[in-house]
Amino acid sequence: MREILAGTIARFRKDLGLTQEMLAERLGITFQAVSKWETNQTVPDTVLLPKLAQALGVSVDKLLGYSAFGGDVSFYESDYKKDEYFWGVQPSVMCLKILETMPPTRPMKILDIGCGEGKDAVFLARCGYDVSAFDISEAGLEKTKRLADKARVNVRTFRANLCDYRLDENYDILFSSGTLHYIKPELRDEIMANYKLHATGMVAFHVFVKKPFIGLPPDDNIKNYHPWKSGELFTFFHDWVIDSCTEHIFDCNSSGVPHRHAANRLFARKEV
Ligand SMILES: C[S@@+](CC[C@H](N)C(=O)[O-])C[C@H]1O[C@@H](n2cnc3c(N)ncnc32)[C@H](O)[C@@H]1O
Repeated sequence: MREILAGTIARFRKDLGLTQEMLAERLGITFQAVSKWETNQTVPDTVLLPKLAQALGVSVDKLLGYSAFGGDVSFYESDYKKDEYFWGVQPSVMCLKILETMPPTRPMKILDIGCGEGKDAVFLARCGYDVSAFDISEAGLEKTKRLADKARVNVRTFRANLCDYRLDENYDILFSSGTLHYIKPELRDEIMANYKLHATGMVAFHVFVKKPFIGLPPDDNIKNYHPWKSGELFTFFHDWVIDSCTEHIFDCNSSGVPHRHAANRLFARKEV
């Protein structure tokens, strides 16, 4: 929590083009106090939080890194409200690779980032992992819980916007399939640094990448869609062991309009 708050104060201050001195002046405190918050040496007094949030133009929730939905609803919300599972219930092939690389021979914590309706999170829980999962979609999380109940396993779900949420606990494995291209490019450095810090074993990420011969998907929320450059994800993990990093092109019909995606799958292990 402290680490998240330190990051959000600095980020929202810079977004507004404020120096530490300018923010301090608005709050009637010293700039050293702001500097200490941002370097996680101290935390703001609770009574100051509403005023601080107001000075930064955000809600207290957003400052604490919890929600910050700002009216944002998943593009898939209405599809997830239907009874059938939009993405099906078969796990991604990535789950099998996780089983091969880091089988749950001891208690192992996984976080599924952008879990959708939970097909992968529930499969991994059935395999014996201790699974947490988040998504911006309330309907997706409801379906994840229903799928977990049906399989009689537990998946800890919570709603969060991956652009605002920062990890403050460690996971053996971070997993994300088809979601990390919703991170705004200017947040990638910070979010990947946060993920690297809190992944103690491995990351398994599947992201969409830009190719000149692949058009924008017809069914996506273009405003929030930020495909990665080829190799970009790899560079964030250059100091880890890269188990595999592959690209593939696949057909998709998610909107009823046939189209193609280019995607990158990365499996990287932290060696300690
Ligand atoms: C293509 S779906 C993949 C879902 C799931 N991982 C799967 O493979 O079935 C992308 C998911 O990202 C979620 N999403 C989009 N933007 C998000 C954000 N800013 N924060 C968290 N989740 C987001 C959507 O709600 C959706 O469930």
